[in-house]
Amino acid sequence: MINMAKPQIGDEEKKAVLEVLDSGILAQGPRVKAFEEAFAKMCGVGYAVATTSGTTALHITLLAHGIGPDDEVTTSPFTFIASANSILYTSARPVFVDIDPVTFNIDPSKIEAAITSKTKAIMPVHLFGLCCDMDAILAIAKKHNLIVIEDACQSHGATYQGGKAGSFGTGAFSLYPTKNMTSGEGGMITTNDAAYAEKCKVIRQHGMRVRYYHDELGYNFRMTDLQAAIGNEQLKKLDGFNRKRQENARFLTGCLKGVKTPFVPEGCEHVFHQYTVRVEASKRDALRKHLQERGVGSEIYYPVPVHKQNYYVKDLGYDVTFPEAEKASLEVLSLPIHPALSQTDLETIGAAVNEFMAA
Ligand SMILES: Cc1ncc(COP(=O)(O)O)c(C=O)c1O
Repeated sequence: MINMAKPQIGDEEKKAVLEVLDSGILAQGPRVKAFEEAFAKMCGVGYAVATTSGTTALHITLLAHGIGPDDEVTTSPFTFIASANSILYTSARPVFVDIDPVTFNIDPSKIEAAITSKTKAIMPVHLFGLCCDMDAILAIAKKHNLIVIEDACQSHGATYQGGKAGSFGTGAFSLYPTKNMTSGEGGMITTNDAAYAEKCKVIRQHGMRVRYYHDELGYNFRMTDLQAAIGNEQLKKLDGFNRKRQENARFLTGCLKGVKTPFVPEGCEHVFHQYTVRVEASKRDALRKHLQERGVGSEIYYPVPVHKQNYYVKDLGYDVTFPEAEKASLEVLSLPIHPALSQTDLETIGAAVNEFMAA
């Protein structure tokens, strides 16, 4: 079976973990600090703050910007639930804006209509490894005095007009095993603001600046040195992983017939966290079944947009419609693209898709 993901853990990661075990410092320690510094450098920002997950990175990011009850944050409905849930955790309200059907990212031309006097932030989600249209988003944010929080959980190393994902506003990354790089579980916040980074660290550690003196409500969202040891080694390999994903994407785009392949806008470097094609809704599930029979894994990211999820409809009373997000959820199919795929795997994926689409 050609799986959708395969974490690339080598001898370097294993050795680094054993060193941590031998060091006796298992919780947050020097490896976390080193990982934060290296991650900030990769992103081209001044500071990075490590956390337990992408979800907690987003949660802290919002809290540290003072977002809370009665605030609204605009974001995409076509994303993993954590983007919107992180807003709910602060008691603010996610306000969704439909997507551009070509990029699957939030459509900037629709953001202003969703802004109200309660709007405090825009959270663009760089979905599948492709940055949002940041020039347009930053211009809207400036005009309306809004904070920009990039959900960069799927876009490690992706660029937009030469800038890295996570460097345009405050960035939040996931280091889950299926991501372009991993620390097992983990997250990272990126910022150019030293005081803001400090605030994130305080929230990460039970609101504590001085040991056992607690100035505000915080959490235990600390990364361990074991995770940081893995993350540090993965970070060294990130460019290579991304290059291989891009080569795999080039191959598939060159060979697939009858499906709409991913679009890469001018000035963007797509890092293909996912390689997502569009097919007619009436064929999508049958194509998936056919791939399964041919030993090719695939996945639907995402079958239900956030505003249509049960909790959002039944408990939170969302009664809205976003035609592009809803249409995309019926037509998308992500194919394996991870760096461990062989040329034979890629040919098998291409042949299986083409066989079905030609039938
Ligand atoms: C777009 C997006 N946001 C947030 C998250 C949450 O990250 P984590 O699973 O590390 O909490 C993910 C993870 O899949 C994601 O894809």
